[in-house]
Amino acid sequence: MRSHHCGEVNASHQGSTIDICGWVHRRRDHGGVIFLDIRDHTGIVQVVFDPDTKESFELADSVRNEFVLKLSGLVRLRPDGSMNPEMATGEIEILGKNLEVLNASKTPPFQLDDYTEAGDDIRLKYRYIDLRRPEMQYRLRLRAKIVSTVRRFLEDSEFLEIETPVLTRATPEGARDYLVPSRVHPGQFYALPQSPQIFKQLLMMSGMDKYYQIARCFRDEDLRADRQPEFTQIDIEAAFVYSNDIIKLAEGLLCHVMKSVLDVDLGAFPVFSYADVMRDYGSDKPDLRNPMKLVDIADLMQSVDFKVFNGPANDSDSRVIVLRAPGAAKLSRKQIDDYTGFVSKYGARGLAWIKINDLSEGVAGLQSPILKFLPDEIVLQVLKRCGATTGDIVFFGADKAKIVNDAMGALRVQLGKDLDIIVDGWAPCWVVDWPMFEKGKDGKLNAMHHPFTKAQGTVESLSSDPENALADAYDLVLNGHELGGGSMRIHSSAMQEAVFDKLELGQEGLAKFDFLLEALKLGCPPHGGIAFGVDRIVMLMAGTDAIRDVIAFPKTQSAACLLTASPSEVEGQQLRELHLRASKPPSTGKTASSNKPSVT
Ligand code: AMO
Ligand code: AMP
Repeated sequence: MRSHHCGEVNASHQGSTIDICGWVHRRRDHGGVIFLDIRDHTGIVQVVFDPDTKESFELADSVRNEFVLKLSGLVRLRPDGSMNPEMATGEIEILGKNLEVLNASKTPPFQLDDYTEAGDDIRLKYRYIDLRRPEMQYRLRLRAKIVSTVRRFLEDSEFLEIETPVLTRATPEGARDYLVPSRVHPGQFYALPQSPQIFKQLLMMSGMDKYYQIARCFRDEDLRADRQPEFTQIDIEAAFVYSNDIIKLAEGLLCHVMKSVLDVDLGAFPVFSYADVMRDYGSDKPDLRNPMKLVDIADLMQSVDFKVFNGPANDSDSRVIVLRAPGAAKLSRKQIDDYTGFVSKYGARGLAWIKINDLSEGVAGLQSPILKFLPDEIVLQVLKRCGATTGDIVFFGADKAKIVNDAMGALRVQLGKDLDIIVDGWAPCWVVDWPMFEKGKDGKLNAMHHPFTKAQGTVESLSSDPENALADAYDLVLNGHELGGGSMRIHSSAMQEAVFDKLELGQEGLAKFDFLLEALKLGCPPHGGIAFGVDRIVMLMAGTDAIRDVIAFPKTQSAACLLTASPSEVEGQQLRELHLRASKPPSTGKTASSNKPSVT
């Protein structure tokens, strides 16, 4: 249909007659001549129609934004003074000859260049129009390039691509399952995979040696900017490996992708233990571009006469820390109060602070509501320990360790943004030596990764002291996002049984994994692997802050697709075939399909 793409036409084509196809990006009538900016996936080119070609001129006059055109014309240099150095095709224009309207368009719901005014809901409802924007075109093309680079790397490293089932049974990764009712097995359900975890382990037991898959995963969990209900993993597993082999491979893969796609050298990845990152950053996915650290001061607060601090300072489950916010003395009282509100969302009962107006004056140069509770020499020791100087604010967190880590870890992230102290660039790291378990609110142990993660010690040490057992697991973190996580897997049935025992799965829960325990007894090699989140890698490489921006057809925060209006109700007959009856809670008036009336 076409001889050239719009964005490729340049001065070297001067004098040629070419055919192009595309959408009308903009139409302008300049006193007797019509200018059409025609857009395709490569860019935009300007076409001019003058009244000499009467029929095409009249047609050009009648087209509107987003009409789909095919046209031929002569490439010529733009007249002096009207060249546009901002545009790749800005030196030339096409003098339009023949014009064919391939399809008309209604007035689009938003203009492609002022989509920000349109709002997210409209953009998602008309996603196919949103995707026409150059920015979105770039992101999806970048995504395809990243995935194809990953495939080539893994295939060159002799990994075999194998598909695993999507209709399967529960694969625990800590979220709720999406269930699919079975028509032929009344009352029974498949679960969509939260990850291909069990299958990739079974493939190692099958002698496949090295497996990978660009795998779609499904998790019914609270959605955030970097979480979608369905997302894509680069899922990797290998047999006869140690954790270091997988760490080296995964690091090599990420470095290769960054170098070949963005020409970025990531350099060496520092390795931190889980205990270290929780101590220094209050987070298991620290953004190392942010220079702030949590600094422990419990030892200084054990004997002060201030209950807020001396209580936690003398309790082994608690922490007392300071967070030095460089240059934050400029914050107003109202802004500081807002941060107190911010940390309260994480359970903190307050946010003590000291403003350092002039350190050279000692305590007299400080301003704070808590100075009266603390001896001067303790205050000065605290400031010295965290390196505070004139112009800073030091914030205090004192509570159970989990609350301090959650609240002050989040405050560190927020202050980093607000004070604009996050340095540009890339800061990867590994987090290793994870605890095997964490205690839930019900007092029961939950797997920190998944229940198939190998412990570092013996079955006996795991059984006798599960709360202190460490996992042979590793997470890859980049700029404060968990990009990937993996581990060595349990390959002995005794350790797997011990883990299931600690997780108190019960008879019914255990029965679900009979097949796995059986497989572990039938010649299972040592094995391990990792999975990267493709969406998160692309999000960071595209420089956006939401994975929605790099997924062609994402869901909303409430897991709905506004374009196809799903989820949706189904016919009674279909429910009967599936042996289901819908019992709906009272209607809130809201449905996934906002354009559909809700049925009560
Ligand atoms: P994990 O649960 O850590 O590990 O997931 C691996 C990676 O997948 C990405 N990810 C997500 N991305 C978008 N939306 C989500 N809802 C979402 N959930 C996870 C993250 C994460 O690091 N089976 C193990 C891997 C293994 O042990 O090999 C697993 O799934 O980037
Ligand atoms: P109070 O004695 O509760 O009035 O608190 C005195 C100061 O300590 C106030 O600035 C509070 O914001 C702060 N504060 C109270 N509880 C905590 C806490 N758990 N961690 C840090 N600061 C706190």
